[in-house]
Amino acid sequence: MNRIQIVQGDITKVEVDAIVNAANSRLAGGGGVDGAIHRAAGPGLIEECSRLGGCDTGSAKITGAYDLPARYVIHAVGPIWQGGQAGEPSLLASCYRRSLELAVEHGARTIAFPAISCGIYGYPLSAAAEIAVKEVVSFLELDESESLEMVLLVCFDSGVHECYERVFEDLCRRGRGQR
Ligand code: APR
Repeated sequence: MNRIQIVQGDITKVEVDAIVNAANSRLAGGGGVDGAIHRAAGPGLIEECSRLGGCDTGSAKITGAYDLPARYVIHAVGPIWQGGQAGEPSLLASCYRRSLELAVEHGARTIAFPAISCGIYGYPLSAAAEIAVKEVVSFLELDESESLEMVLLVCFDSGVHECYERVFEDLCRRGRGQR
């Protein structure tokens, strides 16, 4: 299986069917990757988001992608890190699962994720990377019809990239994932 790629770069430039945004529960736009996605998409995106009634933490909603190269933006709301005892791991895992489900439901065959919750929301990077990789691997293992061709994990800087690579290699070594 060769359906996961860890890459370093700017998610707004990636040519995939769906890109995932690390959004807030009001879907109101913001800084970080959210700001970059809204700037690159143009004003149609915030207008569509404003009609969705927000989104629960741990869930996701899908919109068009306007001026972005993608067809869809999937707005996932990650948890704000509060020390780890407030359900953060299961909420973060659920963001990945729900985004993958939405992509499949809409016929997307390629999808790119940023490191959800790892910026402004303060989730410790290696713990978040482990959840991201495990959720994607489990989803692809169950996706027997191979409706998803490729899942990109897009790391904005080299520190995030190195961490994801390390987590992925560890997981492969333990026999939990394969590229
Ligand atoms: N492409 C890919 N990754 C990016 C980009 C980009 N253009 N810009 C930033 N990132 C990375 C950050 O380096 C970080 O690793 O995305 C990761 C997530 O960081 P944030 O964007 O801060 O997202 P998050 O921690 O989930 O916080 C969400 O921030 O912008 C607000 O509205 C958003 O309130 C919400 C909160």
